Amino acid sequence: MLLFEPFNIGHKLELANRIVMPPVVTRLATVEGKVTEELIQRYLLYAQGGAGLVITEAVSVKEQKSGQLLRLNHDEFIPGLKELTDRVHSESDAKIAPQIIHFLKIARSGYRQKVEDLSLEEVKEIPLLFAAAAARAREAGFDAVELHYAHAYTMSSFLSRHNHRKDEYGRSLKGRLRLAEDVVIASRQAVGDDFVLGARINGDEFTLGGNALNQSRPIASRLAELGLDYVSVSAGGRFEDAVPREGEALDPYTGYSGHRSMPPKWMQEKVNVYLAADIRQTLRNGGHSTPVITAGRIPTAKVAEEILQDGQADLIGIARPILCDPYWPKKSREGREKEILKCIYCNECREAEGAFEEVTCVQWKKKDGSIAPPKP
Ligand SMILES: Cc1cc2nc3c(=O)[nH]c(=O)nc-3n(C[C@H](O)[C@H](O)[C@H](O)COP(=O)(O)O)c2cc1C
Ligand code: SF4
Repeated sequence: MLLFEPFNIGHKLELANRIVMPPVVTRLATVEGKVTEELIQRYLLYAQGGAGLVITEAVSVKEQKSGQLLRLNHDEFIPGLKELTDRVHSESDAKIAPQIIHFLKIARSGYRQKVEDLSLEEVKEIPLLFAAAAARAREAGFDAVELHYAHAYTMSSFLSRHNHRKDEYGRSLKGRLRLAEDVVIASRQAVGDDFVLGARINGDEFTLGGNALNQSRPIASRLAELGLDYVSVSAGGRFEDAVPREGEALDPYTGYSGHRSMPPKWMQEKVNVYLAADIRQTLRNGGHSTPVITAGRIPTAKVAEEILQDGQADLIGIARPILCDPYWPKKSREGREKEILKCIYCNECREAEGAFEEVTCVQWKKKDGSIAPPKP
């Protein structure tokens, strides 16, 4: 099966297979953004389970409160992350990359900072923050870096048609792309040409008046032109149709857009794959061989293989099924599908993440009340 064949990203990084564990927040970091032994154990589990590439949860490039989320905004975070990468490399064949993120302020009071609220000085600082974090990621021993340009956060909000800035960082697609370009250029300078730099974008925001393929096609093409090594295509996760909850900060994963990024059981399998397929074709038509990652409701190796065989994507993101059973890749490769603890796409893990609780799978709970992942 193609799924279990090695894959080389940009002649820079050899993956043992085409299975990617996409970013899934664990809430196992400290509130100061530091690595814990529990967090290392979790990523070791994903790595030993057989995924070719493990992308970590979003890691903040900025000093900002966000619960137990990893950070890379200072050199003090390097030693902890170095221990994580050293252990993943010595105890598995997996490669590991952080997803680096910049996000805007949000409060329980209902206040939500928007891209229009940022001063020019604050905007111009963002590429420097990403570049410094990317350089630290390389120093910490990661194999690649992923820029978070998807979902609710700063970068996708600049790219979005919902960006109403009146200056050179808004007004038109060209203006809305400016910050994304600056971040790629600065990050590339920071990590060097021989290091894999990818980005996760939204293929469609699934909001009224927001970006759809008409916008994400030229966005992906421009990023490829700038030398990005891969494009990961996600969807939705926007604030615009989020459902307010009394006394809580607005949660971007509560509306329809939010549900498209973590498709629940009631959505069909492969629901977002056509977005990756379209963007991949756009890139190929433009002469770019940039690999494309897809994700979302891909439950089995058989379905993943169909996507590869049909040329819809180059790498397959399997998030919740690997959270549910980290040995999904290994068991699938060995023909032991029956032994896989199967994700039921209930999104209880997402609810835990939103409530700042440790992210585990509900199905890890044993009859005696203990919680443990399935066996290899
Ligand atoms: C608890 C949880 C946390 C997530 N955290 C992130 C994140 O930090 N960054 C990101 O880009 N996607 C995040 N995602 C989305 C996943 O990477 C993935 O795209 C999504 O779950 C769809 O894939 P799946 O159907 O294989 O789970 C998260 C998903 C879940 C369930
Ligand atoms: S909690 Fe539900 S959606 Fe999350 S991994 Fe487990 S079964 Fe899948």
